Amino acid sequence: WGQTGHRVTGHIAQNHLTGKAKRALNDLLDGHSLAFVSTYADEIKADRAYSKFSAWHYVNYPLGTRYEDSEKSEYGDIITAIESCIDMVGNKNNNREDRVFYLKMLIHLIGDLHQPMHASRAEDKGGNDIQVQWFGEGSNLHRVWDKNLIESYGMTYTELGTELDQVSRRERKKIQEGTIYDWVNESHVLCGELYDSAKVGDKLGYQYAYKYNEMLFSQLQKGGLRLAKVLNDLFA
Ligand code: ADE
Ligand code: ZN
Ligand code: ZN
Repeated sequence: WGQTGHRVTGHIAQNHLTGKAKRALNDLLDGHSLAFVSTYADEIKADRAYSKFSAWHYVNYPLGTRYEDSEKSEYGDIITAIESCIDMVGNKNNNREDRVFYLKMLIHLIGDLHQPMHASRAEDKGGNDIQVQWFGEGSNLHRVWDKNLIESYGMTYTELGTELDQVSRRERKKIQEGTIYDWVNESHVLCGELYDSAKVGDKLGYQYAYKYNEMLFSQLQKGGLRLAKVLNDLFA
């Protein structure tokens, strides 16, 4: 996701933390909100010292297959990255600076895990090579899902987050079920549908935004609620 998508995820998660997780996060993040630190992993991309983390934001494997059965990248992927982050943050013997770094990475990556084009296929770099128009401006299928769709609502991340936070306890529990493998495969299936939603050169706008509004909101909501689950378990 772009900035707004990550902040929405953080904003939703913030409202579903246990007392223990809140205290641990408050300490490690120096009082900053999940929304505030959620974009850190993108901010460091400009610094070449962090180039080894660039493959951590996504995973590509053939459509119609499961992550567990796929060939793994030697550079790592979003799933191996999330596992490393959980290990690093969970080990209190690690120094504080490292734990904070991997915690901020984790908060970002659970968001990206729910952007369907981040659980994608290699041929077109997760839709980056599929050029389309968005309200008459050049874009691509990946970018449409990272930010064009979200920005078309003209809502702030707090407005969107508050909107998507309205969920019953039963619904929340259901969304929080499963493992990161289930979650990445779920995104991967949606990604497959999205490859049928747009072809190179398509002119996308209101109709596209309307058609995929539900999928977009549901993925943002899942990202937020599941981020809370991961953090609650980590600091239990
Ligand atoms: N580069 C290659 N594949 C990608 C993907 N799925 N998402 C973002 N960047 C990528
Ligand atoms: Zn990212
Ligand atoms: Zn992206």
